[in-house]
Amino acid sequence: MLDNVLLVTNGKGGVGKTSIVANLAGLAAKAGWSVLAVDLDPQGNLARDLGYLDRSDGGQGLLAAVLLDQELSVIEGVRPLDAAKGAARLDVVAGGPQVARLSDQLGIEVARSGPAGYGRLGEVIGTLAPPYDLILCDLPPGDGAIGRAALRMGRFVLVPTPPDDAGIDGLGRVFAELQLASADNPGLEVLGVVLSLVVSGAAAVERRARVDLEVLLGEKVLVFEHTIRFAQAAAVACRGRGLLAHEYAARAASATPWYRAKASGQPVERYSSAAAGLAEDYRQLADEVLGELAGRLDIAKPATSKAREVVG
Ligand SMILES: Nc1ncnc2c1ncn2[C@@H]1O[C@H](COP(=O)(O)OP(=O)(O)OP(=O)(O)O)[C@@H](O)[C@H]1O
Ligand SMILES: [Mg+2]
Repeated sequence: MLDNVLLVTNGKGGVGKTSIVANLAGLAAKAGWSVLAVDLDPQGNLARDLGYLDRSDGGQGLLAAVLLDQELSVIEGVRPLDAAKGAARLDVVAGGPQVARLSDQLGIEVARSGPAGYGRLGEVIGTLAPPYDLILCDLPPGDGAIGRAALRMGRFVLVPTPPDDAGIDGLGRVFAELQLASADNPGLEVLGVVLSLVVSGAAAVERRARVDLEVLLGEKVLVFEHTIRFAQAAAVACRGRGLLAHEYAARAASATPWYRAKASGQPVERYSSAAAGLAEDYRQLADEVLGELAGRLDIAKPATSKAREVVG
C-alpha cells in the first residue's frame, strides 16, 4: 500500500470525481505540496480539466509500464508554481483510451492468478512515489479491474456523491467494494464523503442527505462540512478552457465586462458568474481535505489562500 495515495471514487458516473481531483490537486500544489495526479479513467477527462490534452499519450505510458515493465514517465509541471514554495509541483500520469486495455489485461491477470494480479499498478506508481507529498488518483465509474487495482494500491479514499436518494443509495455498493478491497489492503481508509453537485438554496436536501448518510454509513465515516455546489455553466466553461475553478474565476474577475468590450469593439468574452462561488467551494473543501491528510501523513498542512490571483 502507498501511504500518500488518495483515491477519488464512486462507481456512479458524473458525480464530480474528476473535477474534484483536478481542483484539489491544483490547490494542493499551489499551496506548496508536491502533487502527482494520476488519471485511471479511459475517458481521460483529467487532461481536459488540467489543460494538458496536447501532452497526453492517452494512457499508453501507463499501459506499457504495468504490462511491459517499461519505465513510466510523468508529464511534469502542468502548472507554473511559486518557486518560493520549495517543493511545490504538479505532475500528471495521463489516462485515456489505453487505460481500458490495461483494465482488461489486469482483469485477465486477476482471473488467472487471483488478487495478487492487481499489485502491478501499485508497484509502478510506487516507483514514482518518493518525491510527492500527495498522489491523487481519478478512478473511472463502474467497477472494472483498474478501479479495483487502485483500491488495493492506495491508503485513502474520498467519495463524492450528490445529495439525492439515487446517489446516496448507490453508496452502499461503493462501500461494499471498499470492504472487499480492505481484505487485500487492510490499510485502506475512507477519508470522507463529499457532497457534490449541491443545488444552492436547497438546505433541506443537504440536511436530509447528511442524516441519510449517517444512517447508512454510521458516525465513524466523516462527511465533509464543505460541499461543491451545482454550477454547470461554470464547470463546463472551466473544462472547456482547461482551467481550474480558481483560475477561471481569476480570469473572469480581471476580464473587461462584455458590455464594455462590445461598446469599444473589443472581442467579447463571457464568463460564468458562478465561477467565483465554485472556486471558493473547492478552496474550502481543499482546506478541509488537506487538513485531514496532513494530520494522518504527519506533514505540514499547506495554506490554501483566499487571495485572488491573476492567470496569464
Ligand atoms: N459543480 C458542478 N456543477 C455542475 N456540473 C458539474 C460540476 N462539476 C462538474 N460538472 C459537470 O458534470 C459532468 C461530470 O463531472 P466530472 O467529470 O467531474 O464527474 P465524474 O464523476 O468524474 O464523471 P465520470 O464518472 O464520467 O468520470 C461534467 O460534464 C462536468 O462539466
Ligand atoms: Mg471522471
